[in-house]
Amino acid sequence: ENPAYQAEFDAKIDAGGYIEAKDWMPEAYRKTLVRQISQHAHSEIVGMLPEGNWITRAPTLKRKAILLAKVQDEGGHGLYLYAAAETLGVSRDELLDALHTGKAKYSSIFNYPTLTWADIGVIGWLVDGAAIMNQIPLCKCSYGPYARAMVRICKEESFHQRQGYDLLLTMMKGTDEQREMVQDAVNRWWWPSIMMFGPHDKDSVHSGQSARWGIKRISNDDLRQKFVDATVKQAEVLGVTMPDPALQWNAERGHYDYGAIDWDEFWNVVNGHGQGNVDRLAARVKAWEDGAWVRDAALEHERKRAAREDQ
Ligand code: 3HC
Repeated sequence: ENPAYQAEFDAKIDAGGYIEAKDWMPEAYRKTLVRQISQHAHSEIVGMLPEGNWITRAPTLKRKAILLAKVQDEGGHGLYLYAAAETLGVSRDELLDALHTGKAKYSSIFNYPTLTWADIGVIGWLVDGAAIMNQIPLCKCSYGPYARAMVRICKEESFHQRQGYDLLLTMMKGTDEQREMVQDAVNRWWWPSIMMFGPHDKDSVHSGQSARWGIKRISNDDLRQKFVDATVKQAEVLGVTMPDPALQWNAERGHYDYGAIDWDEFWNVVNGHGQGNVDRLAARVKAWEDGAWVRDAALEHERKRAAREDQ
């Protein structure tokens, strides 16, 4: 630790400035960014699986094309974020090994199964809706490469959320069976979606330090409240009800009150025992192993190209 550099770093953070890859930074700052950015990237890549499951089953060519574009976007988000993490001196292989061996986390939400087509709409509406709430403040994160990656990602996220909501509006104008399908999906995805924002602030191990470092600009609970307030109104327009009898407007607070979150369910899923954890990780490991020949070919091509250049 170097007092002069530390003072310069603190001054930049206090001024709301950006830390760039070549700037001096405290080792703990670098480590928490590698942790958060890589887990964010893992979430994007694993998040392709639940939706990918429905690309071949989309009800129309239009919906198939939209879903294909969205899943492709998520892959690109993962790429931006792995690249941002690599600026902190870690390799892609190290990061992916941490995922494949269960050391690194990814967002709990992607361990739930997509049982019907309505799940695809609800994921766009609720999961991408929650992701937008969480990702907009990250565009102002103190670490430059992460903030800039988030600016690009947020532009695509709004399309993700809109297409999901549009899909549900279409279904709600359909048959009773389609309306029941949407309500069933909302019932299964509502609580896992509000768990995406992480533990309550009082239980969050990283929030205090991440807030001081300008990484976490808005707290888990404040973002969760923002999401609930915005989404309940959209649910009314859609004509669905949230599976929470305690959900009601509190005029005094100017926010919606909501029921107790089942943190046992949250930690059970985060710790690898959710409905989909084993399958999701197995799918990622298989994709990695099946793709080894592509990586070898690219590396061999690069070796030959470099050798030709040296001639
Ligand atoms: N799923 C899995 N783990 C979670 C979690 C969740 N929903 N919420 C919190 N955790 C983990 C944290 O990673 C941390 O564990 P770790 O020390 O092993 O990393 C622990 O629970 C304590 O939580 P904290 O609140 O103290 O941790 P953070 O300060 O890191 O806050 C976070 C958690 C809000 C998720 C923060 O890490 C963050 O903002 N991450 C970047 C954004 C992100 O990952 N968004 C969700 C997935 S992206 C997505 O949805 C893609 C979209 O295109 C669909």
